[in-house]
Amino acid sequence: MMQNFSFHNPCQIEFGEGQIAKLATLIPADARVLLLYGGGSIKHNGVYDEVASALSQHHWQAFAGVEPNPEFETLMRAVKFAREQRLDFVLAVGGGSVIDGAKFVAAAIPHDGDCWLIIGNRVPLKTALPIGVVLTLPATGSESNFAAVISRRETNDKLSFKNPLVFPKFAVLDPKTTMTLPARQIGNGVVDAFVHTTEQYLTYPNGALLQDRLAEGILQTLIEIGPITLAEPNDYNARANLMWAANQALFGLVGLGQPQDWATHAMGHELTMLHGLDHAQTLAIILPSLWRYRFAAKQAKLAQYGRRVWQLNGDDKVVAQEAIAKTEDFFQRMGLHTSLSAYQLDATIVADGVAEQLTRHNRLRLGEHLDLTPDDCRAILLTAS
Ligand code: NZQ
Ligand code: ZN
Repeated sequence: MMQNFSFHNPCQIEFGEGQIAKLATLIPADARVLLLYGGGSIKHNGVYDEVASALSQHHWQAFAGVEPNPEFETLMRAVKFAREQRLDFVLAVGGGSVIDGAKFVAAAIPHDGDCWLIIGNRVPLKTALPIGVVLTLPATGSESNFAAVISRRETNDKLSFKNPLVFPKFAVLDPKTTMTLPARQIGNGVVDAFVHTTEQYLTYPNGALLQDRLAEGILQTLIEIGPITLAEPNDYNARANLMWAANQALFGLVGLGQPQDWATHAMGHELTMLHGLDHAQTLAIILPSLWRYRFAAKQAKLAQYGRRVWQLNGDDKVVAQEAIAKTEDFFQRMGLHTSLSAYQLDATIVADGVAEQLTRHNRLRLGEHLDLTPDDCRAILLTAS
C-alpha cells in the first residue's frame, strides 16, 4: 500500500538552449557570487564565457579545481576563500561533483565548528548560503535535490549529507552544454539516472501506480535515447531528453510513498573510495548481481519491469531473469563493464574491503527490507567477479 508522503521541491528549473543568460536576473543584483567549477571543461566549451557574460553586472569571483568525487580538503579551501572575500551566493557550474561541492561549501561557510561533521548529518545546520546551478553533465539529479556526496581520501570516507537548506534555488539545464561530454561521461550519466530510478522502483509491488509508471517512463526513455546520445553527439533532442530524464530520476517524484532500496549506491560509494571507479561504473557492476542475489524478494517487481519496460512475455520467473540480462546488456551497450574483473579487480579483495567499510560506516542493514548485511554485500560482490 502506498505510504504517506510530503513533497516540496523549491528548485526553479530553466530548461533549454540559451537559458544561461537568465543568470543575470536569477541571481539577486547585490549578491557577491562564488562561481565554483571543476577541472576546466567549462573553459574549453564556452560555458564559462557564457556565464561570465550573464554575470557582467554582478560581483563574482571564481574558485576552480573541484575534482570528480569532490574532496573535503579542496572544498575547505573554497570555504576559506569565500569567507575572506565575503561571498554570499554559491553558483555551481558543472556536473554532480561541482554541485555537491557547492552544497557543502554553502553549508560550511556560515558554519561554526568542525565542518567535517556536516557530512553524514552529524551536526544540525542553522543556515546555508543560497545556491544556483548551471548543469553541464546530466546524471546525478543533484541540480534540483538536497543531497550531496563528499569524499575524504585521508580517512577513506565517501559519505553523503542531506538538508533542505541546500536545495538549489534554481537550475539552468541547457542541453547544448552537454555536447562536449566524452562518451564515458554520457554512458555514466545514463546508467546513473537508470539506477536512481530502479533504487526507488525495483523493490516489491506497493500499489503506487503513478510512481511505478513514472519510473517505467524514465527507464524506457533512457533505453531509447541512451544509444542515440552516444552515436550522435550533436543530436540536440537526444541530449535534451537525457538531461530531463536524469533530472526527473532524482527530482523527488519517482520515490514518493514507495519502499526504496539504495544498497547498490551504498556499496558503490565504498567501491569508488577503495578502488577509484567512477560512480556509475560501480553501479553497473553491482546492480545485476544484487538483483540476482535478491531474486526471490524482487521477483514480482522484476517481472513487472521486464513486461512493461522490455516488453518481455512468459511466466514471472523467466521474465524476471531475462529482465536482468537485458539490463546488463544495456549497461554494456552504454560502454560500461558489468564485472569487477573487467577493471582488473580481484573480487575477494573488493568484497572484503567494501564489507569492512560498510561496517565501519555503520551501514549494517541496507535495502528495502533493511536486512542486507555487510556479509550479504560481500556475497553480492563475490558474484560480480
Ligand atoms: O571537472 P571538469 O573539467 O568540469 O570535467 C568533468 C569531470 O571530469 C567532466 N565534465 C562535466 N561536464 C562536462 C565535462 N566534460 C566535458 N563537457 C562537459 N559539459 O565530467 C567529469 C565528471 O564530472 P562529475 O561531476 O564528477 O560527474 P557526475 O555528474 O557523474 O557526478 C558524480 C558525483 O556525484 C555524486 C557521485 O557520488 C559523484 O561524487 N552523486 C551525487 C548525487 C546527488 N547529489 O544526489 C547522487 C548520485 O547518486 C551520486 O552519488
Ligand atoms: Zn547515483
